[in-house]
Amino acid sequence: MEIGISAIGLTIPKYALPLEELAKIRNIDPDKYLNGLGCRYMALCAPNEDVISMAVTAAKRALSHWHGTLEQIGLVIVATETGVDMSRPLSSWIMQELSLSGQLRSYEVKHACYGGTAALRQAIEWKLSGNSKNKAALIIAADVALYAQGHSGEPTQGAGAIAMIIDQPTIAAISPDSFYWSEPQLDFWRPIGNKYPEVNGRLSLTSYINAVLQCFTQIATKQDLAACLNEYKYQCYHVPFPKMVYSAVKRLGDYCGMASDEILNWYEEKILSTMEWNQQIGNNYTASLWFTVANALTKTQAKEQISAFSYGSGCGSELLFMRCTENQSHATWVQELNQDFATRELINAQQYQELRKEK
Ligand code: HMG
Repeated sequence: MEIGISAIGLTIPKYALPLEELAKIRNIDPDKYLNGLGCRYMALCAPNEDVISMAVTAAKRALSHWHGTLEQIGLVIVATETGVDMSRPLSSWIMQELSLSGQLRSYEVKHACYGGTAALRQAIEWKLSGNSKNKAALIIAADVALYAQGHSGEPTQGAGAIAMIIDQPTIAAISPDSFYWSEPQLDFWRPIGNKYPEVNGRLSLTSYINAVLQCFTQIATKQDLAACLNEYKYQCYHVPFPKMVYSAVKRLGDYCGMASDEILNWYEEKILSTMEWNQQIGNNYTASLWFTVANALTKTQAKEQISAFSYGSGCGSELLFMRCTENQSHATWVQELNQDFATRELINAQQYQELRKEK
């Protein structure tokens, strides 16, 4: 039995700040943000938006493109690190908005940016367990990433949500096999009551790169790894900022013994374009990897394969594989996301400072 993605819904908030504007108020050379980190814009919630409104929009969009009914949903998981309650799961808010109740499981998962992948894996393994009663899962990954003003992480801020229906693989079949790696790290954390995360920036970079090596080197021997990776049309990564992905790919390429120009070609051919939306949005934590996957699927032909590397601080990581089942060049989620891009408002530095004023 093949399990996979049956429908996708994406959304981003109504505001965006060009990073040149942030550079102005932080007295930083804009090239550091644009080229040093590889970011372009950060997505920001307007006053009437939040993690719940984005999660609901993404879920409604995914459901509107699915051929099933609400009664056929047997599992709802919301992955987020923007939780609003220590007890009541975010999935309860979503179910309320969708008028969804009955014979189903519903909960929230948290493991930093890895949460979306944990939720998706649970859905797949639930389907494979034989206990899903032939029902489908609604998986949502939604986050608002904000740092204290002036923090080094501020240029990587972002927001957005993705919802996926996990059932028949009408969009992509996800392999039951995956490779995972976890170890206790204190690289990024947000204690209860803290509005913004604490970050050990340097440790987060080395921990991400180590997790990439730990997951990818489980696939094949050092000699065979490059050839093995070449079978994937696109390789998707969690994107805290695009240059992070390049640094990890460079390290992986060095490990495989590839020359610098080979690594650059590989990055440009299989990785760079999957981050097209992330550059326009910033880091949306649990949703970040899944935006790259949604992007890659639109450029993939039936039977072509994609890999997806998930990283969450703390830290947990997993490498997954999927096969595109149908040409998605007219994907509905792209049309909806492009509409969001076209209608969002670009704000300036002064408006950003106003928006960030503590209420
Ligand atoms: P920083 O320390 O201010 O930046 O913040 P930097 O000084 O390291 O500079 C960054 C790059 O810009 C460097 O390039 C500089 O050389 C370059 P590199 O050497 O790395 O290739 N640069 C310039 N380039 C052009 N023109 C210039 C210029 N100046 C400098 N004028 C840091 C960087 C990552 C620490 C910060 O953004 C941060 O704290 N971010 C948050 C943490 C983060 O994103 N970590 C990534 C891995 S952890 C992860 O992915 C998990 C996460 O998503 C959370 C979760 O799981 O929930 C974050």
